[in-house]
Amino acid sequence: RNFKRLMECRTDIERLNAPFLAIYESLIPPEEEKEKQKQLLTSLEKLVCKEWPDARLYIYGSCANSFGFSKSDIDVCIAIDQDINKSEVLLELADIFQSDNLQNVQALTRARVPIVKLKDPVTGISCDICINNVLAVVNTKLLRDYAQIDVRLRQLAFIVKHWAKSRAVNETYQGTLSSYAYVLMCIHFLQQRKPAILPCLQGMETTYAVTVEEVECTYFDQVEKLRDFGARNKETIAQLVWAFFNYWAYSHDYTNSVISVRTGSILSKQSKDWTRRIGNDRHLICIEDPFETSHDLGRVVDKYSIRVLREEFERAAEIMQRDPDPCTALFKPY
Ligand code: CTP
Ligand code: MG
Repeated sequence: RNFKRLMECRTDIERLNAPFLAIYESLIPPEEEKEKQKQLLTSLEKLVCKEWPDARLYIYGSCANSFGFSKSDIDVCIAIDQDINKSEVLLELADIFQSDNLQNVQALTRARVPIVKLKDPVTGISCDICINNVLAVVNTKLLRDYAQIDVRLRQLAFIVKHWAKSRAVNETYQGTLSSYAYVLMCIHFLQQRKPAILPCLQGMETTYAVTVEEVECTYFDQVEKLRDFGARNKETIAQLVWAFFNYWAYSHDYTNSVISVRTGSILSKQSKDWTRRIGNDRHLICIEDPFETSHDLGRVVDKYSIRVLREEFERAAEIMQRDPDPCTALFKPY
């Protein structure tokens, strides 16, 4: 039945390019937001360096990986090259920020990634600050580099993230997926198109190498040389959105497959030993982290939320298949 469904072709798909591109454009942050973010980073850096002179601050996550929407919060990582107790440092930082009149300062020392939260009253920007999470800074660069190869990645990921936020399936604490996971799903999907729209940067010659927390991170980062990589593939954004949801609704093998941006291929759950539940990790949808390869970004998904996710993929695929006004239906608030 599913096969038959895939074969029925919607003939007016091209008509959807303009509205999808309009949504994409409307979500892109304006230049002045970037300026404000840099301004805030500089003032935080001054405060932190009074106490830890060697500390360096990095923006990571959506504000730096080019998949951020307008008005999003910023993620900051403080790199301190000393043997420190993260919780103590976070509490000290919270004191420092509080005395400098930053608002809503809150240290969350028991979170999976411990952070201090704050809001800057001058720029109105909210910010999560973590310590020595350098792998996140490196995977942010990887995502940003992929985004420069073919604009269709950024367009597709914006549409998918906007859909996930509208449909409430972008909440890791409720067992659905992080934005980071959705972007990796988009990269993998574009690596798999025939002809491919994206290469596998980690499978190419090494031009960038760092070792972080004993993880070797190496890949080809001279992406300006790859600007024509996807040119032979002429698929438009509407076709790609449609095919993306079709893939996750009807084609992905949830029982056996792991998607892997690192190898640009599909791996078996067996080869990763992700076939059993261990502790709270269930592996019901498997997305390999490109550097921390033992991390399954789908580990947050449980037996209830996997149903929610798959029903949402099917709903989206059905809408792309036959709804007369897909843009309204696709992003209808849950
Ligand atoms: N990250 C990670 N491992 C995870 C989740 C996140 O390393 N399991 C890091 C990634 O560097 C990611 C950043 O944390 O870019 C922020 O993650 P997330 O909030 O999921 O993505 P954003 O791109 O910030 O998306 P949003 O716009 O929804 O804030
Ligand atoms: Mg974020």
